Amino acid sequence: MADAASPSDRNPPILLGVTGGVAAYKACELVRQLQQRGHRVRVILTRGGARFVSPLTFAALTGEPALTRLFASAQSGEAFASSIDHIALAQSAKALVVAPATAHCLAKLAHGLADDLLSTVYLATSAPVILAPSMNVNMWRHPATQANLQALARRPGLAIVAPEAGYLACGMVGEGRLAEPAEIAAAIETALRPPASAWAGRTILITAGPTREPLDPVRYFSNRSSGRMGFALARAAAQQGARVQLIFGPTTAEPPADPAIELVPVTTAEEMAAQAVARFAACDAAILAAAVADYRPAQPATGKIKKSSQPLHLELLPTTDILAELGRRKTHQLLVGFAAETGNPRAAARAKLAAKNADLIVGNDVAQPGVGFDSADNAVVLVSAADETALPRASKDHIAGQILAAIAALPRPVPVPAKSGGLRA
Ligand SMILES: Cc1cc2nc3c(=O)[nH]c(=O)nc-3n(C[C@H](O)[C@H](O)[C@H](O)COP(=O)(O)O)c2cc1C
Repeated sequence: MADAASPSDRNPPILLGVTGGVAAYKACELVRQLQQRGHRVRVILTRGGARFVSPLTFAALTGEPALTRLFASAQSGEAFASSIDHIALAQSAKALVVAPATAHCLAKLAHGLADDLLSTVYLATSAPVILAPSMNVNMWRHPATQANLQALARRPGLAIVAPEAGYLACGMVGEGRLAEPAEIAAAIETALRPPASAWAGRTILITAGPTREPLDPVRYFSNRSSGRMGFALARAAAQQGARVQLIFGPTTAEPPADPAIELVPVTTAEEMAAQAVARFAACDAAILAAAVADYRPAQPATGKIKKSSQPLHLELLPTTDILAELGRRKTHQLLVGFAAETGNPRAAARAKLAAKNADLIVGNDVAQPGVGFDSADNAVVLVSAADETALPRASKDHIAGQILAAIAALPRPVPVPAKSGGLRA
């Protein structure tokens, strides 16, 4: 095997497949245009492609051997054409482009044949695929070619750059001339662009972690929340272009370091409530993932409570219900709460949705081993007015992405004038 490409390659290549069409010479210009745009290009030649342009030409243009074979050949002495680990190559690619794509190549890709390096890489890659066909007008119009094109065009992540009409190399006039390299390069850039995120430019308030309710200067009530679910949500939202205000209680987990995330550390439920209320009006959404204490000692002792043989009676007062408070103040925001339950969380989540004027409740069964509190994984049920979706066990990062997608798909609330609540903003 020659040089294997690693998926962790720092500069992932665009793989350019060149097949046996008369327009193969234009692939040389496409290589240059892609390089001028800062891309690394690796060329895969089919047997037909190598009849039109020599592997040496592409090796000289790209500075890397042109790839021609699926199987390594013992007697190969070619310095500029080689085989490679096709799966590693397919996984290393940021895009797979075939220009020109012959009628034969379209047929193979449409039907999933994998009898050479290019067609095998096509099946093995998860990168965007761009096909630029080129052929004689009758070949283009043939029902077989059109059926193959339609089958390919329906595949997600695959774009076809249609050929132009004009004078063809065969002497005929009609559709079939390869699109100009600049047009193909522009289609590649479009395919590489990340899809516009529903969160770009939005402000999201996220709460995370436990709170601590002091009993005396050295003791407190708290819970086992690690903050990791809220931190994962903050990271995912920032990655999708949101500005995040992350209000979090004391935890040993490392809060995310990202310029798009404002870190607001707090200790008690009342501090968290005050920060959330003060910031809510300027937000587009609030996701309350913190495990806020429901009760706090009425009068924390000013000195350490001494040990005694007598029972100690404590008066506990309910803390501010942050979700209900924001639900009262909601004007245009999407409001999402969490319901940590021991047992089936669905019913509790649905009841909470209505009681707190929330748009979505993420219910999780914290009694399940390996998920929820203090775990790397979670398994939740998303409950909205119109829907109920169970998300099976997965990493909190993965669940965070699914929760954000579900929130983005919610109908936006009709703006209403703000009601004043019990807390001062
Ligand atoms: C001179 C010549 C030019 C050709 N031009 C094209 C072409 O432009 N488009 C096409 O689909 N096939 C064309 N073919 C036919 C292909 O080379 C042939 O179908 C071959 O099997 C394609 O193999 P590949 O797709 O694996 O490269 C041409 C053949 C010859 C001999």
